[in-house]
Amino acid sequence: MTATIRARKSSEPAAGGQTVRPSVAQAVAKAAADESVRLGLEHRLWAASAHLLWERAGVHPGDVVLDLGCGPGHATMDLAQIVGPEGLVIALDENPNFLKQLGEQASARRLEHVERVLGDAQDLAGVLAHHEGKVDVVFARWLFAYPPRPRAIIDGARKMLKPGGQLVIQDFVNLRRGTTMVPRSEAMDRFHTALDASFRGAQRDPDVIEQLPRMLVEAGLTIAHLDSHQRLARPGEPLWHWPRCMIEGFLPGMIASGQMTTGDGAALLASWDESAKLPYAFACLPPLMDLIGRKDA
Ligand SMILES: C[S@@+](CC[C@H](N)C(=O)[O-])C[C@H]1O[C@@H](n2cnc3c(N)ncnc32)[C@H](O)[C@@H]1O
Repeated sequence: MTATIRARKSSEPAAGGQTVRPSVAQAVAKAAADESVRLGLEHRLWAASAHLLWERAGVHPGDVVLDLGCGPGHATMDLAQIVGPEGLVIALDENPNFLKQLGEQASARRLEHVERVLGDAQDLAGVLAHHEGKVDVVFARWLFAYPPRPRAIIDGARKMLKPGGQLVIQDFVNLRRGTTMVPRSEAMDRFHTALDASFRGAQRDPDVIEQLPRMLVEAGLTIAHLDSHQRLARPGEPLWHWPRCMIEGFLPGMIASGQMTTGDGAALLASWDESAKLPYAFACLPPLMDLIGRKDA
């Protein structure tokens, strides 16, 4: 069950006909509940484009794939089904809880050919030396906005690849603008300004994704594919849940760090609820960039 669905339930009419609105405190508690739930929703919403990109990169049965920053492993398990038991998926993340979840899910699905590795994606030579030069495809989705040294990830990935192997990246571009609501919402604009500031405050560049094609070329990879997808969401559609889920995920930290007030948070959630009632409302989601870099023989 997603955080969004739970939020909706708490807005349902209470006995006696009164509507109970979720307070910001409730939203905060829900948000803390489970990042992996949000990642599961994101995977479901963007899985089709991941599969198309894997097809374009030619991921085949028997391949060795490295899933960098795999999280709870939603993509990892799809990849494991594609490469089959003759292949291997190495799933690397710095978060042991995600790797534990992945282990449980992979065993339940009898995906024995998933190797879980706890480590820093910026130090692949250190943690994955035994796989150097043996990997067909390195996949990294929604990873690059987090570690401070993206170029180190690209250099490490290049080392892991066989000649002819490919680094396949999917990430949101123009995160600073984030989701644009129509009708326009000042509260949403304030949220994105604060989110941008919170990234920068943590010495991270929220627009680092724009730099990746250049970094690939500078690392000696050839850009084999570069494209983006823009999606719109209307109230009631599955995609409509996602921006709210993002808000609930990031809001608590932003309130705790003083980048937003609880009043801002309440206004944001209220403006979202108001938009959801308008039959002409829509949300422009951040474009998802597809990027493939090939290591020429
Ligand atoms: C937004 S999640 C994306 C998860 C997954 N790739 C997916 O598509 O669902 C980002 C993941 O990157 C991981 N991560 C961030 N920095 C990392 C680093 N330096 N090394 C390894 N993993 C990292 C986080 O722990 C988290 O699981």
